[in-house]
Amino acid sequence: MSANVRFHVRPGGALRGRLRVPGDKSISHRSIMLGALAEGVTEVSGFLEGEDSLATLRAFRQMGVEIDGPTEGRVTIRGVGLRGLRPPAGPLDLGNSGTSMRLMAGLMAGQGFGCTLIGDASLSGRPMRRVTDPLASMGAHIEATERGTAPLRIHPVPGLTGIRYEMPVASAQVKSSLLLAGLYAQGETCVTEPAPTRDHTERMLAGFGYAVRREGNRACVRGGGRLTGCAIDVPADISSAAFFLVGASIAPGSDLVLEHVGLNPTRTGVLAILRQMGADIVVTNERDVGGEPVGDLRVRAAPLRGIRIPEDQVPLAIDEFPALFVAAACAEGETLLTGAEELRVKESDRIQVMADGLATLGVAARPTPDGIVISGGAIGGGRIASHGDHRIAMSFAIAALRAGAAIAIDDCANVDTSFPGFAVLAAGAGLDIRVEG
Ligand code: S3P
Repeated sequence: MSANVRFHVRPGGALRGRLRVPGDKSISHRSIMLGALAEGVTEVSGFLEGEDSLATLRAFRQMGVEIDGPTEGRVTIRGVGLRGLRPPAGPLDLGNSGTSMRLMAGLMAGQGFGCTLIGDASLSGRPMRRVTDPLASMGAHIEATERGTAPLRIHPVPGLTGIRYEMPVASAQVKSSLLLAGLYAQGETCVTEPAPTRDHTERMLAGFGYAVRREGNRACVRGGGRLTGCAIDVPADISSAAFFLVGASIAPGSDLVLEHVGLNPTRTGVLAILRQMGADIVVTNERDVGGEPVGDLRVRAAPLRGIRIPEDQVPLAIDEFPALFVAAACAEGETLLTGAEELRVKESDRIQVMADGLATLGVAARPTPDGIVISGGAIGGGRIASHGDHRIAMSFAIAALRAGAAIAIDDCANVDTSFPGFAVLAAGAGLDIRVEG
């Protein structure tokens, strides 16, 4: 992947028509992991053919799992059972993907063989103690760097023991990592979260026939069960839809329908926040698809107002804040975000990088340790450093819909990690975007 992919976006325009954004990243990762560990065949449709979920797919191929595809979102996984993975010949390269690394740290900790998990420069700077510490208390032996970062060297251990763990941060990756380790542990593993986080792991385990005990904010699994292959229809990713929800809200004359979007209540913070800001979003055709709620979203341009973002919505919209900051920049008045320090340890420091980019466009944005204060107003043009962060790049592309001059965004290759084809889809809906390099 070349690092010097640049977006050039001309100002103005509106978003119109109907489109389906690519498959949900979180669900795509989990479909490969659980499909590989299941007995029998798992057929996935709507799989995200992005670099992150492909990194997970390749890692399981390296461990001897036969996987066909992806072909137009279809993947067939011939599961090897919980004890059927084979030691990989070399390190497992998980690229930019935090989800792959944190979930697989748990999953690999209970195998009877060792392996090494590596990633790119961004992933190698992200905190891993949040998973390696509780995994160690289950009996795992994982070496990280002194800073608690990847590479993660996972050594074989005689066995894991279930724990009861109260997560200090609201993280679905930590919860999922421990539940996956729990499949291999003696007794029960229970994880309690301080606030609700995405529950795709719990739902999908149940879909594969594995009992998950859920009580309030706690999820528990008992080791020694089995997973049975199944069919998974991956809904469109609400995190990718978010760029279009914001874009159509801020661009006068927009009227856009986003089809088949995953509406799991642990993911819909972006809808709640945008609606509180005055957005006009209507959900239609709500249905259940393989244990996950799905619907179509119609969004029309509307005047937005600044708000104080409720802290309980933060984990439910954790990946959508770069796009929401653009909405705040276009809103009347001030938007205040607090309780979101996690944004500083994503693919980039999303508070600082967004504040810098908004400042380049002439928007008053003041970062705080755990959030940001944005004063809405006119947006100018300029050249933005995305720091290789996919969601930063796409957020500033969408900002051009309301900008007074062109916006150029550097270092956009990683858009392919979560949203391959973003520029083509956005151009089709009305964004005047050109990709260079
Ligand atoms: C994810 C959980 C979130 C999210 C990430 C995907 C997952 O991370 O930011 O993009 O699939 O479990 P945290 O658990 O670190 O909040």
